[in-house]
Amino acid sequence: MIRIGVSPEHFTTREAREGFFADIGRTIHQCIREAVPYNEDQAILDFGCGSGRVLRWFASEPELRLVGCDLHLRSITWMQENFPSSIRLYANEQAPPLPEADNTFDLIYCGSVFSHLTDWAPWLLELRRILKPGGVLVASIHGKGFWNNGLHGIRGILWDEDHTGMLVERYGDSFDDSWGPAVYVSEWWVREHWGRALDIERFEPTGFGLPGDSTTGQAWLVARKPETAPALTPADLEAPSPDVRETHAALRGRQLAYEEIEHVTRHLLAEISGLRNECGNLNSQLGESQKEKQALDEKVVDLTRRVATVENSKSWNLTRPLRLIAQRVRGA
Ligand SMILES: C[S@@+](CC[C@H](N)C(=O)[O-])C[C@H]1O[C@@H](n2cnc3c(N)ncnc32)[C@H](O)[C@@H]1O
Repeated sequence: MIRIGVSPEHFTTREAREGFFADIGRTIHQCIREAVPYNEDQAILDFGCGSGRVLRWFASEPELRLVGCDLHLRSITWMQENFPSSIRLYANEQAPPLPEADNTFDLIYCGSVFSHLTDWAPWLLELRRILKPGGVLVASIHGKGFWNNGLHGIRGILWDEDHTGMLVERYGDSFDDSWGPAVYVSEWWVREHWGRALDIERFEPTGFGLPGDSTTGQAWLVARKPETAPALTPADLEAPSPDVRETHAALRGRQLAYEEIEHVTRHLLAEISGLRNECGNLNSQLGESQKEKQALDEKVVDLTRRVATVENSKSWNLTRPLRLIAQRVRGA
């Protein structure tokens, strides 16, 4: 299973794939470092580190206390074998908590994790718990810049900031067989809902890890844990606000979910019809083969009958002594 995909169609050699993978990690690292500059002795967590595409660049900065965790055990095992042993790495559970003390980290970053996390609120609160007061979260998520890569964008639906809250495509997909669901958010929605837990200092609707590209790429944000962080539950973060955009977003979200079901259903029906056609073709090929087999069987029966006729004929029996003489001469 490829967890972080680099298409072999576009990058035909292993070196090209590895180079592209490394470049993305390096530009994401630069993006994070531009927002939260290096400071000796920072404690940093890469939440959802995958195979360390970004963490490897932090590993080259001296004097940091680095931790990486991910759901995916095989990626973590690979990292434990290939990364410096000073980096603490572990596989975490599906749901919080993480095995970390309160107020531990100066910086937590998550690249392409919240962009697939539908149950986001428990994790946001968990990351807040383990951030130091004043500590910073840098997280990427799907937004306006990524919209055209998604299911609705591809079918021509335009991004609509005021009618979008948190919108999920491919809701039931899992991380085991695909990229998981795609979670899109608008800026006002993040400021409203994430802003209940953390101070949102910066929201960029595009360009995560793409310096100079102001139109595409994931959205990303820089959020700080307040010095005093009141106790909150996931329901507190999720509850709709009186903002009229909440209602617009809920209605549009439902409409797009129906359209997605219709769209996917149409595709599945087309696939089923294709498979049925293929089955039909195979059946008729099988029918042809069966006819051919029957014709051959009949030929075999006919030939066997003709052999028996020859073997039982008078001339065959009369010529038997001659055949025996010829056999002996051949043997001599
Ligand atoms: C698209 S990958 C990005 C990996 C890495 N951050 C990078 O940029 O290369 C998303 C990662 O998030 C991880 N993930 C998803 N949900 C998670 C969770 N609840 N806890 C930890 N990791 C999670 C997945 O296993 C996957 O490795």
